[in-house]
Amino acid sequence: MIFWLSVIFCFITFASSTPPDDPVKCESGNTICTVTNSYGAFPDRSICEAAKVEYPKTEAELVSVVAAATRAAQKMRAVTRYSHSIPKLVCTDGKDGILISTKFLNHVVRTDPEAKTLTVESGVTLRQLIEEAAKMDLALPYAPYWWGLTVGGMMGTGAHGSSLWGKGSSVHDYVTEIRMVSPGSVSEGYVKVRVLSETMNPEEFNAAKVSLGVLGVISQVTFELQPMFKRSLTYVMRSDSDFGDQAVTFGEEHEFADFLWLPSQGKVVYRIDDRVPLNTSGNGLFDFFPFRPQLSAALAVVRSIEESEEAFADVNNKCVRGEQISSFLFSIAYGVCNNGFLFTGYPVIGRQDRMMSSGACLDSHQDGLITACPWDPRINGEFFHQTTFSVPLTHVKEFINNIKALVKIEPKSLCVLEDSNGVLMRYVTSSPAFLGKEEKALDFDLTYYRSKDDPLTPRLYEDFIEEIEQMAIFKYNALPHWGKNRNIAFDGVIRKYKNANAFLKVKERFDPSGLFSTEWTDQILGLKGNVTIVKEGCALEGLCICSEDSHCAPTKGYLCRPGITVLMGCPYSIDKKLPAPRTPSEGCCTLVRTIGMKCVCEVITKGMEATIDMQKLVNVAAACGRPLAPGSQCGSYRVPGA
Ligand SMILES: Cc1cc2nc3c(=O)[nH]c(=O)nc-3n(C[C@H](O)[C@H](O)[C@H](O)COP(=O)(O)OP(=O)(O)OC[C@H]3O[C@@H](n4cnc5c(N)ncnc54)[C@H](O)[C@@H]3O)c2cc1C
Ligand SMILES: *[C@@H]1O[C@H](CO)[C@@H](O)[C@H](O)[C@H]1NC(C)=O
Ligand SMILES: *[C@@H]1O[C@H](CO)[C@@H](O)[C@H](O)[C@H]1NC(C)=O
Repeated sequence: MIFWLSVIFCFITFASSTPPDDPVKCESGNTICTVTNSYGAFPDRSICEAAKVEYPKTEAELVSVVAAATRAAQKMRAVTRYSHSIPKLVCTDGKDGILISTKFLNHVVRTDPEAKTLTVESGVTLRQLIEEAAKMDLALPYAPYWWGLTVGGMMGTGAHGSSLWGKGSSVHDYVTEIRMVSPGSVSEGYVKVRVLSETMNPEEFNAAKVSLGVLGVISQVTFELQPMFKRSLTYVMRSDSDFGDQAVTFGEEHEFADFLWLPSQGKVVYRIDDRVPLNTSGNGLFDFFPFRPQLSAALAVVRSIEESEEAFADVNNKCVRGEQISSFLFSIAYGVCNNGFLFTGYPVIGRQDRMMSSGACLDSHQDGLITACPWDPRINGEFFHQTTFSVPLTHVKEFINNIKALVKIEPKSLCVLEDSNGVLMRYVTSSPAFLGKEEKALDFDLTYYRSKDDPLTPRLYEDFIEEIEQMAIFKYNALPHWGKNRNIAFDGVIRKYKNANAFLKVKERFDPSGLFSTEWTDQILGLKGNVTIVKEGCALEGLCICSEDSHCAPTKGYLCRPGITVLMGCPYSIDKKLPAPRTPSEGCCTLVRTIGMKCVCEVITKGMEATIDMQKLVNVAAACGRPLAPGSQCGSYRVPGA
């Protein structure tokens, strides 16, 4: 009965919500500060410190802040109003750095209706950008779905929406000019303001489009916009049986296509979404349900259900709840309304500025935390890991089929992704930005439970999610989203960018002393150190790969479990329903030989035994030259013959 509560509560929404806290907190005035992200936790759960925070209100003030810090050889980082990035991008090293907040750099600088351009300061949020453009009857064609992000932050990490059309879905690819404030030499007065554009300085411009904040502080950005248009949106839920093929072609067919995959349910929600002329009738509004304010009390109930599912390994409840959440969200069309209030049926047609992005929980009526954004760290709400990477379109089919093979091994395993609405999948294209996407790809967004107070407690089906993460990052060379991953996704990441050296040259020119660089940026840029943190239980939080039992949680029954890989590599030979091939495939046997049957037998659960034919597995082991001893145990199965 209890899980119904969460569903019923979801129907209640509020017009107001307590706005998110400031990510920067200081002991006295603007000095002796700490900084965190909007979730209140970095991947390693540390707290970052800084000597002070500055709040420039104009470019002139920003220039003097950067000059003063450069003169004093202090480290600096730009921080935004909400600080949405998960990794430790915002931190300066040690305690002596300076945070430069763009909170009050939030003005429109210039509009040019003829040229269809809009110039804004870097602290302007996506929401403001969309609204200001709409006042000129113009639109940003593609953008992230959450409008709390700032212009500087989106460019800092290469944020995107979903499209293969035009120049693709990354916001930075619609920028024509960037004003960057960087450290300068003594003769320059310790600061230099550069105006970057494609025609004047293409190398520097392409470095600044996705800069990770290491080139200086972006002061202003000019966007190239399009005439306002409408969109026509329909969600369709279908079986995922042909998803591998569909995922490759659907994005060519629909301009704003995306997917929500429910792998354990075997379903996909297709977003059929296309541009229509402005005079098409319809006043639709996309107010994405999970971004609306939620009752803190209801969030606490859901959280305690999640915690008890984890504590009691209640997989069945997790799956039931996942199905309820998916069908509820689908039934309300994820919060899209035909006329501003109600969803009355498809297609929903509305103007781009009302359909692109949302974030009702940011609306700032203080209500003492009765309602809030679901992940607000001040309440007992959502707390999760995120793993977000883009898999080259050429590998997408194979990757999807690999994930399906995992579901085949353990049908309930990926329910853990469905409780967080499912796997959101969006298209991106290659970008001239040096640290932008390298080729057409599909970006996978995985959100899953994270323990609040015990980083050493294993999650349900942790090994399955890790298998997916490692397969994407290492086998398919996927690019991690710079703003949304755990450490391990960034291991060796810079080698995946063919223009990394060009980027580093620009960084050397803009900030030769590395005042905007930190331990974290040096690690991800491959300059110094390694993102991996090896310690007891490190794999549980994505800080390392579990290569020894102590990296996992040996006392809690979560051991190093590469055995899953074997089961994935041998799907046709062990499936109960399929006729077994005469000999296992070459790839399957290679895995059996390198990983060993001991690991395989250790990972097999009752759930898996429902789909795996254990006798066939015993045959595979023998055929690959690693026979199991008669009478030995494999899962709950006793190898016959002793
Ligand atoms: C609810 C939610 C939804 C999201 N949805 C999407 C989505 O749909 N698509 C997507 O791609 N991403 C999405 N993200 C991730 C997001 O795009 C990135 O984390 C983004 O960087 C956050 O922007 P921010 O303004 O909060 O910047 P921050 O996280 O504060 O900063 C990011 C980086 O940019 C640097 N920076 C910020 N401003 C400047 C500046 N003026 N000059 C120089 N450097 C600067 C910072 O130093 C930091 O290194 C989402 C995040 C959340 C929390
Ligand atoms: C929209 O405008 C175009 C020309 O601009 C016209 O041909 C078309 O009939 C109009 N459609 C509607 C639904 O009014
Ligand atoms: C980082 O360290 C880990 C663990 O020691 C190692 O496996 C990995 O290859 C290293 N990465 C790089 C880029 O050197």
